[in-house]
Amino acid sequence: MATDEKSQSDLEAELQSLLEQERFDPPEEFVRQALVSDDSLHRRADEDPNGFWLEQARELDWFTEPSESLDDSNPPFYRWFADGKINASHNCLDRHVEAGNGDRVAFHWRGEQGEEEDWTYADLLRDTQKLANGLKERGIGREDVVGIFLPMIPEVVIAMLACARIGAVHNVVFGGFSPESVSERMKVSEAKALVTVDGARRKGKTAEVKSTVDEERIGDLDHMETLVVVKRTGADCPMTEGRDVWYHELLEAADDECPAEELDAEHPLFILYTSGSTASPKGILHTTGGYLTGVAHTTRLVFDLKPEEDVYWCSADVGWVTGHSYIVYGPMACGATSVMWEGAPDYPDKDAWWAVCERYGVTILYTAPTAIRAAMKWGVEYPERRDLSSLRLLGTVGEPINPKAWAWYHTVIGGRRAPVVDTWWQTETGAIMISPLPALTPTKPGSATKPLPGIEAAVLDEDGSEIEEGQGYLVLKRPWPAMLRTLYGDDDRFVETYFEKFGRETYLVGDAARKDEDGYFWIVGRIDDVINVSGHRMSTAEIESAIVSYEHVAESAVIGQEDEDSGQAVTAFVTLEGGAEPDDELEGSIREHVAQRIGKLARPKRIIWADDLPKTRSGKIMRRLLRDIAEGREAGDVSTLREPGVMDDLAEQVRQRGDGGDE
Ligand code: WTA
Repeated sequence: MATDEKSQSDLEAELQSLLEQERFDPPEEFVRQALVSDDSLHRRADEDPNGFWLEQARELDWFTEPSESLDDSNPPFYRWFADGKINASHNCLDRHVEAGNGDRVAFHWRGEQGEEEDWTYADLLRDTQKLANGLKERGIGREDVVGIFLPMIPEVVIAMLACARIGAVHNVVFGGFSPESVSERMKVSEAKALVTVDGARRKGKTAEVKSTVDEERIGDLDHMETLVVVKRTGADCPMTEGRDVWYHELLEAADDECPAEELDAEHPLFILYTSGSTASPKGILHTTGGYLTGVAHTTRLVFDLKPEEDVYWCSADVGWVTGHSYIVYGPMACGATSVMWEGAPDYPDKDAWWAVCERYGVTILYTAPTAIRAAMKWGVEYPERRDLSSLRLLGTVGEPINPKAWAWYHTVIGGRRAPVVDTWWQTETGAIMISPLPALTPTKPGSATKPLPGIEAAVLDEDGSEIEEGQGYLVLKRPWPAMLRTLYGDDDRFVETYFEKFGRETYLVGDAARKDEDGYFWIVGRIDDVINVSGHRMSTAEIESAIVSYEHVAESAVIGQEDEDSGQAVTAFVTLEGGAEPDDELEGSIREHVAQRIGKLARPKRIIWADDLPKTRSGKIMRRLLRDIAEGREAGDVSTLREPGVMDDLAEQVRQRGDGGDE
């Protein structure tokens, strides 16, 4: 124990001294072997951005090569490579098999219980073709929407690529979301089929999935014709004759061959719903050619990926955009060998991830700051149990990384050999936008550094003038191939959300940022009512409307409170109807209700009872003041409040209840 304590304090000292260093040059050893170690791509992109992107697009395998790059005749409805014909499934599968790499492992899949399966490109192509035929037999075709609600099993990749193969549009819902959220997303996208599972595993327990989908009556939605069910846990699973079909039976009965459809570059590839500032989620629509260009190009560029040598692991869930772009489409278009991990980072023990790195000789690891903070809290003894010397590059995404977590990641996990790429991007951008190039850009912990070649970012003030110092609106000033094309079924909301504030040629990101004297970007946080819980976007409005739907609740305001583990945590101020008394039981029920309605990530960590909420004279809730209260600060300017006394009452209530919060 004494040595543990000593090594812990040595490490602390080491991290502190590391943090005094402001800049980190790319490690020499890394630079020597890197794919890109000079700025020729930047120069090429600056001189002719559209030509540069067309060259990147041509790295893919087209049925008809595009001759055009950007079509900006109708901003903000940009089109890319519009005269090309392509298929994403073909690029992720057939292309590699045809090149003689069918035996290459695409995924080392590792299950919850330690099960191991290696899936080669040829294996995935075989099953993808069968599923694609099965879907076709069920009447699914071009532009039909197919929902996917699956855990991290190989079938999720097969389902996505089967859709892409026949021109159907997938709509993946994160497995942690509630069936009610799935239902809403299926309804608004008018999905014709849903691919789901009998049950899911989490830390040795199993949970029924298909039966909850049935309880929510998702199979009865208008337009919904087919539920395809993967058998995973053997959970009780009622099947409705004619509508429901087992995945394995569908595959068994299907023909082996299903040629990939030759699709327009602008053919829709997928919809992914993400939280916005109102209660209804936004259906981000991505199309084929531009998106695939963006993700394949950035996988090579940012992760320095060498498909013949590397073992790459992105620890995200496929249900988020990180999984779409950097588990499925980017790495697979490049022919990478990846790890796919079903489990939790601390099951069966807190060294689970590091055991996976050791087992497969992972060379590139891409994860989220929240996971790094958790590992840091568990202690160095867990990574120290394992040999992590194969790691040569580390990445993060999802939220700003605190410099200390950065230093820990770099030192304990990367042994100071591996550069850290802090990658900034969004569901909307499709691919990484701001990030170091690992062999070129000196890094500063906490900054995603600079825009990638071909990307032009800026920080603007309220009037749209560029500011060189201080905080402002982060924008992207030039269209890029992987950008969203619209919000599914809602062009007006698309324009309004992203292209109204600064005009139709400037994409409003929704983050606040500042630029430093070296032109490095520092992301400060969201400007809208979106909060970031463990790197996952949650809408305050959506959580509020779930809370208000609970009995006895009159009003609610949700904020993201600073949190050591999750970055931000959901804190809800709740006003009850007259006569109702707050107590622990009600608090518990409200929290459960939110988990049920939206998903566990949205469950408030803390509920603060409020007799009234601070509002402006026009009735707008002032969340800034609520954040002050929740985080224990003196409240800022209250002069615009309709009833300034509200603040004193609230502060008193928080004081009386102590710090509150649980878990
Ligand atoms: C935040 C995830 C700081 C940001 C890929 C963005 C980040 C939102 C970073 C998008 C980063 C993502 N540094 N903040 N490296 N990466 N964000 O759509 O607020 O789930 O707008 O996409 O996460 O979240 P989304």
